[in-house]
Amino acid sequence: MSRDSTGKVLRVAFLLCVVCSVLVSAAAVVLSDRQERNKVEEKNKNILQAAGLYEAGIPVEAQFSKIETRIVDLQTGEFSQDFDVVTFDSRSAARDPETRYQIPADLDLAAIKNRSRYQDVYLVMDDGLLQQIILPVHGKGLWSTMYGFISLAEDFSTVNGFAFYEHGETPGLGGEIDNPSWKKQWPGKRIYDDVGNFRIEVLKGRVDKKSENAIFQVDGLAGATLTARGVNNLLKYWLGDNGYKPFLEKLKEAGIKP
Ligand SMILES: Cc1cc2nc3c(=O)[nH]c(=O)nc-3n(C[C@H](O)[C@H](O)[C@H](O)COP(=O)(O)O)c2cc1C
Repeated sequence: MSRDSTGKVLRVAFLLCVVCSVLVSAAAVVLSDRQERNKVEEKNKNILQAAGLYEAGIPVEAQFSKIETRIVDLQTGEFSQDFDVVTFDSRSAARDPETRYQIPADLDLAAIKNRSRYQDVYLVMDDGLLQQIILPVHGKGLWSTMYGFISLAEDFSTVNGFAFYEHGETPGLGGEIDNPSWKKQWPGKRIYDDVGNFRIEVLKGRVDKKSENAIFQVDGLAGATLTARGVNNLLKYWLGDNGYKPFLEKLKEAGIKP
């Protein structure tokens, strides 16, 4: 048979496909543990960044050791011991009929339809006292579901940091939620007023720094009002009565000793 015969070409092509698929499958299996570790490390880095605790150059694992992960039952507002904090995944739990909570349409401000009844929260402790609490939040922007972490100080109202780690908004428009100069406005802003009303808001336009409401306001995103509206809605949902608010109130009553 000639070297260029159709049969030989097909045989070589087939063998090449088999060899490549074996290599790719082997790489996927061998690297899957590492990918999982990288995913956890990336998540922990985002949590540290939201809390303003991340220091480049120091292993994330070492930095994360000062953070305590707990699972909260949003229905009761109490901590739950029913899950392994290392493996708990609120996104999977939101799909699992056992743990899924279908959000009534009139309450679904974040437009997510379902969430997990249980959520992972992250406590920064010092000498047994809570210094700050980091809460996962997510909700629809214009094009995508935006996932982030918001960190609150021990008064459960003052923002220490707020950052998204996953979204599909347009770079230069909605994607400006990642812009460090926009993000740096959040620390020091307050979520609730003195009587507990939800007040934080991304404006359309700029904050009037002389206004008495400035403490509850963040500059808008030029050309991206719809993404900004999504940010407002998801905060209103997650920090409201159907989100973390009952839990935060209980934690406050408990004298900040979780
Ligand atoms: C290709 C394209 C991508 C856009 N991406 C976004 C986006 O990610 N977020 C957003 O709020 N608006 C985006 N917009 C603009 C919205 O359609 C809308 O005009 C804008 O949110 C209104 O904001 P403004 O009132 O600040 O101009 C995009 C528009 C186009 C044409």
